[in-house]
Amino acid sequence: MFANYFNKTPMPIFYGKATLMDHLKSIKTNNSAIGFVPTMGALHQGHLSLMQQSMADNDTTVVSIFVNPTQFNNPEDLAKYPRKLEDDLKKISSLSPKIIVYAPPVDDIYEGKPSSQFFDFDGLETQMEGKFRPGHFNGVGTIVKRLFEIVQPKNAYFGEKDFQQLQIVKKMVAKNKINVNVIGCPIYREPNKLAMSSRNVFLSPKEKQEASIIYKTLIESKENFKKQSAKTVTESVQKTFENNPIFTLEYYQIADEEMLLPCIRKSKNKKYRAFIAVFVNNVRLIDTISLN
Ligand code: PAJ
Repeated sequence: MFANYFNKTPMPIFYGKATLMDHLKSIKTNNSAIGFVPTMGALHQGHLSLMQQSMADNDTTVVSIFVNPTQFNNPEDLAKYPRKLEDDLKKISSLSPKIIVYAPPVDDIYEGKPSSQFFDFDGLETQMEGKFRPGHFNGVGTIVKRLFEIVQPKNAYFGEKDFQQLQIVKKMVAKNKINVNVIGCPIYREPNKLAMSSRNVFLSPKEKQEASIIYKTLIESKENFKKQSAKTVTESVQKTFENNPIFTLEYYQIADEEMLLPCIRKSKNKKYRAFIAVFVNNVRLIDTISLN
């Protein structure tokens, strides 16, 4: 019914949606809950923490591993995105051999040339990542909607590291009346507090060590935001990076969590968050922190 990982592990792995859907149907009972963790592979502890949360909350956990071409605005980034299926399967099976993996080829998801559906996310898509990665969120919306249709989970788990993505997926679910609970999970960090990312493998040991400046800056700005305006905090972050020879700041923005609009004047009723994107050579790193 399913292909095992080189027939060495008892893990259920599916490469096609039809067999996956048949299998999920065969194990589903009236009360059973499926938890779903969509990923693009090159798994690290951050991804595994989402899987742990899903296993704690649900009877069955499904993990997808699919490098989605339609969410890459930069073809070079897509070409060099790390693909490590063998390692990923080992990591998942050591977490739990019961986790069901769906690792489709592109043509199991997209018929013909991969293309995105157009979404209206009420403006969430125009801020930050949306400004610097045109088309990215239409690609994310397209793949997540497709995967939800295939897996039909009760709960789906997304990292707060990609907070804008999390809000966009919540918006997509609400607007399309999709019956899935979207659950945000905390950011998992390296010992030096750099947010874990599949892209961290491209950093040299020195760059990785120096990248602790990102979280340090977020913590400082959280402290400063208690007494300074968003504009002043932003300017001092910009100054920090102007003087840094290794990192180039793409954006730093303080925005409200709901609409992701830049904070012009602080409002007591809003929850704010700082968002940052920086480049180290050609590697793009993002991070975020709640400010109040
Ligand atoms: P990917 O970058 O592989 O991330 C998969 C999930 O892991 C996302 O929800 C992301 O926010 C979460 N994640 C990544 N790093 C994390 C960390 N350090 N701590 C906690 N969670 C972390 O995000 C995507 O893939 C894709 O856009 C996807 C949703 C799979 C659609 O293609």
